[in-house]
Amino acid sequence: MNGLAQILDTSTGAAREAAIATATAALKRSELVGMPTETVYGLAGDATCADAVAAIFASKARPRFNPLISHVPSLSEAESLADFSPVARRLGEAFWPGPLTLVLPIRRPSPIADLATAGLDTIALRVPAHPVARALLTAFGKPIAAPSANRSGGVSPTTAAHVVADLGSRVTVVLDGGATDVGVESSIVGLIDSVPRYLRPGGVSRDALEQVLGMRLAGPKDDAGKPSAPGMLASHYAPAAQLRLDVHDVRPGEALLAFGADEPTGSGNAMARINLSESGDVREAAVRLFASLRELDTHTDTIAVMPIPETGLGEAINDRLRRAAAPRD
Ligand code: TXA
Ligand code: MG
Repeated sequence: MNGLAQILDTSTGAAREAAIATATAALKRSELVGMPTETVYGLAGDATCADAVAAIFASKARPRFNPLISHVPSLSEAESLADFSPVARRLGEAFWPGPLTLVLPIRRPSPIADLATAGLDTIALRVPAHPVARALLTAFGKPIAAPSANRSGGVSPTTAAHVVADLGSRVTVVLDGGATDVGVESSIVGLIDSVPRYLRPGGVSRDALEQVLGMRLAGPKDDAGKPSAPGMLASHYAPAAQLRLDVHDVRPGEALLAFGADEPTGSGNAMARINLSESGDVREAAVRLFASLRELDTHTDTIAVMPIPETGLGEAINDRLRRAAAPRD
């Protein structure tokens, strides 16, 4: 493909219909499209087509051991692809459509390409809430594999322009669904062994999940001590700049990613200060997190980040920040 993908408007009924038709035709040709979801933009391809799934891995330079989420339009579609325990069904009913992914035993035979599940006996499923994603799933009529639409290890995209900047030569079109509502990826809950495991903090808070489960979520490590979400690598979500976390000061030349009302004064780069939420609202901070990292990255080599509480979506924000700050290869 030559040049950068076109961004297709979906803001009116007629524009959306035309854009969905164009994107659906591309998916049917095993091409990839940029798809808005309520969390982050996805790099969408036909989950049942090995060529399309291979193109997703190649485009992101994603290691093939790291499986993809299959997106479906409804709980009943999800139930045709995986074995749902009563607990799994309860979570699906409570949070779908929405920013939750469930990892479940796969049903065989499966229409999903083996590469999408990295050959595992489990599958990650999500029913997204974004109306454009839902329209695309309905029009396409098959499960859509979609990782976040960034180069592997980089910052996730929350606008159509971010997708074009990262993968514009790899997708046929990007559906413009506006800036995403949640801002961090879906929460991932694994229902594989005897206890529900919180594999990735995300758009549904631990508290909300535990309330519906009526029990505590276990951590992501299985008994053998290896991570049970293969993609939860130490370094991820990283801008080019280094991050310095939990700061109460800002040093010469540093950009500042602030939170709350008490911004440190200091000698930092005055051009590069963003407050994720002056009122200290973690939900607002999540919405702004990735776009702010991208913006500050254009100004500096080091981003100083103020402490953010672990409550609610704060757990997901801090998870992303710690990975963004982790040593890189
Ligand atoms: O919000 C989201 O979840 C976004 C939007 C586009 O839906 N997608 C997303 O996908 O964040 P990705 O590929 O960036 O992250 C998916 C995570 C990876 O860490 C992967 O290892 C994990 O899900 N995963 C997928 N299948 C799995 C499985 N069978 N068992 C454990 N983890 C799995
Ligand atoms: Mg990702």
